[in-house]
Amino acid sequence: MMQHEQLFQSKIDQEVKIEPLDWMPDAYRKNLVRQISQHAHSEIVGMLPEGNWITRAPSLKRKAILLAKVQDEAGHGLYLYSAAETLGTSRDQMIEDLHSGKAKYSSIFNYPTLTWADMGAIGWLVDGAAILNQVMLCRTSYGPYARAMVRICKEESFHQRQGFESLLVLSKGTETQKQMCQDAINRWWWPSLMMFGPKDADSTHSDQSMKWKIKRKSNDELRQQFIDMIAGQVKLLGMTLPDPDLKWNEERKHYDFGEIDWEEFWAVVKGNGPCNKERLAARKKAWDDGAWVREAAKVYAEKQSKKILKSA
Ligand code: 3HC
Repeated sequence: MMQHEQLFQSKIDQEVKIEPLDWMPDAYRKNLVRQISQHAHSEIVGMLPEGNWITRAPSLKRKAILLAKVQDEAGHGLYLYSAAETLGTSRDQMIEDLHSGKAKYSSIFNYPTLTWADMGAIGWLVDGAAILNQVMLCRTSYGPYARAMVRICKEESFHQRQGFESLLVLSKGTETQKQMCQDAINRWWWPSLMMFGPKDADSTHSDQSMKWKIKRKSNDELRQQFIDMIAGQVKLLGMTLPDPDLKWNEERKHYDFGEIDWEEFWAVVKGNGPCNKERLAARKKAWDDGAWVREAAKVYAEKQSKKILKSA
C-alpha cells in the first residue's frame, strides 16, 4: 500500500492528472465524490431561483438570455454528475443523498429572488464568485473534474457579464430602477461571500484538499480575491456594497471587510434558510415527475441491446 500512496502523491506533486482508472486513496475518492456531487447539486438547485423569473422577464431579449443561462446550469450539473460517476458513485445514489439531506448544495440558492434586479445580482455576484472558484478548479488534480471546469468556465463568464450588464442598465434608469438595483446588491452581497465556505480555520477539508491539489487556493484567499474585484466593479454601477467596514488597506493591498454572519451561514447550510424546504421539495417533485422519462429510456435501451444481441 505504501508504494501506491507514494506513487500517487508523487503524481500529484509533479502535476500529473489523476485519471478514473488510476489507483487513488479511498479518502481522495470520497472527498471528490463529496465535492463534485455537491457542486453538481448546486448547479441544478441553482436553476430554481432564476427559473422563477423566466416567465416574468421584462423583454423577450432578457427572457432569451435568462433561458440560455438556466439551460447552461442544467448542462453544468449533468457534466459534473458524469465527472462524479467516473469515481464509482451512481446518479441515483447522488440524487438520493441530495433528497435525503445527506448531501449539500451551495447555501446561496436558499435565498429568494424578489425582484428582476436579483437576476442581475445573481449573474454578477453569484456567478462571479463561482467563476473565481471554478477557474481555480480548472487546475484541480482529478482529470475529469479539471476538464469539465474548462467548458463550464467559458459559459460562466457569459453568465457574469450578462448579470453585470443588466444591473448597469438599471443603474442608469429611473429612481425606482436604481433602488431596485441597490436593494438586490444589498441582499445578495453577504450570502455571496458565504459561497466560498467557512473561514480557513473552520474548514474541515481545506488542508487535505490543498495537499491533494483538489483545491489550489483556500476559502479565505478566494473570498478576498472576490471582494477586491467586486469593490472595484460596484463603482462602475454607481452603487455601494452593504459593508460599512469595507475599506482599501494600502499595507495589505486588499480591501478590509466586515465580519460575516457565520451563524446565518451554518443555519442555511443546516437546512434552515429562507428557501431550503421549497428548493428540496421542487427537486423531489421534478425527480418524481421525470420518473416516466427514465423508465421509457431504460425500456428503450433494453430493447436496443436485445436487437444488437439478436443481430450479433
Ligand atoms: N454552502 C453549503 N455548504 C458549504 C458551503 C456553502 N456555501 N461552504 C462550505 N460548505 C460545507 C462543505 O461542503 C463542508 O461540508 P461537507 O463536509 O458535508 O461537504 C463544510 O461546509 C466545511 O466546508 P469546507 O471548507 O471544509 O469544504 P470544502 O473544502 O469542500 O470547501 C467549497 C467548500 C469551496 C464550496 C468547495 O466544496 C468547492 O470548491 N466546491 C466546488 C464549487 C462549488 O460547489 N460551488 C458551489 C456553487 S456552484 C455555482 O454557483 C454554480 C454557478 O453556475 C451559479
